[in-house]
Amino acid sequence: MSSDDHRVQAPFGAREVTVATAEQIGPYRVFGCSDELGPRPTAGQFYMLASSERWGAGSDERPYLPRAISVLAAGDADLSFMIEAVGPGTERLEQLVEGDGLRLLGPLGNGFSAPADGARAILCGGGIGIAPLAMMQQQLLSAGREVTALLGFRDGAHAAGARLIAGAQVATDDGSVGHQGLVTELLLAELDRDSNAVIYSCGPPQMLDAVRAIGVARGAATQLALEAPMACGFGACYGCVVKAADGSYRRSCVDGPVISADELAPDWLEVGGVK
Ligand SMILES: Cc1cc2nc3c(=O)[nH]c(=O)nc-3n(C[C@H](O)[C@H](O)[C@H](O)COP(=O)(O)OP(=O)(O)OC[C@H]3O[C@@H](n4cnc5c(N)ncnc54)[C@H](O)[C@@H]3O)c2cc1C
Ligand code: FES
Repeated sequence: MSSDDHRVQAPFGAREVTVATAEQIGPYRVFGCSDELGPRPTAGQFYMLASSERWGAGSDERPYLPRAISVLAAGDADLSFMIEAVGPGTERLEQLVEGDGLRLLGPLGNGFSAPADGARAILCGGGIGIAPLAMMQQQLLSAGREVTALLGFRDGAHAAGARLIAGAQVATDDGSVGHQGLVTELLLAELDRDSNAVIYSCGPPQMLDAVRAIGVARGAATQLALEAPMACGFGACYGCVVKAADGSYRRSCVDGPVISADELAPDWLEVGGVK
């Protein structure tokens, strides 16, 4: 997806906003803010976020770069984000409470594009990757489109995140909620039922790669929202490259993060730094 069709351009520079809402959903932290100066994002776009205070400024802390975070929902001026703490940046973002300052840059990257007329959308994701899918579901339902949602989580605690997507079928690794097994098993069953469906996916790298392989093998239009580690978020550092099927490289921050499955090299995971 290398065209600019789905890209809302970010204004130059980071903006300072205030956290207005914060709630815990299972292991995930969801917080909202009002961003009156920024353009409205589309599903699949992301922001570079940093807390205004205590962002690695102490003498025993490393200076942090902002972290790439998908937009979960957007209203007329509101934005919300969903965090799972995996390291110092997300641990700090997870601690944000109402009234705290947040620095954001965005919206960045290319979002998802709508399915062809009449085609059903299948949202297939897992873990923190449900954020862009939740926003895509809202966009599709508002446009009167048919949507099926399939979500995979490692256990029942993480499956609490499924409440962010209406009517989702859930799979868990341990079988504590929904189907015991992989979300890709649910995806294969849906494609058996409707081979014209368009797949939208975001999730852990191995899951995303399995969805890529299924989409290519079945000839299904498949849009993947990559979460390759990013440093700048706007095309300057080449820290986010992934290998394309033609042997060239794509910067996932500006050529993605949404990329067609058939555009990626089969070994993209080994060279994209997303292992
Ligand atoms: C476009 C995009 C959207 C994202 N959206 C969200 C979101 O909505 N919510 C959210 O919580 N996170 C999201 N992420 C992931 C988040 O930006 C990274 O995990 C980030 O590096 C976390 O920073 P940290 O300091 O907490 O952990 P780090 O110190 O950066 O990393 C902690 C551990 O996670 C591993 N890791 C880091 N990044 C990735 C990755 N992308 N894939 C696999 N392993 C990784 C590292 O190797 C390390 O072991 C997104 C990333 C991208 C590129
Ligand atoms: S993150 Fe710097 S070029 Fe993509």
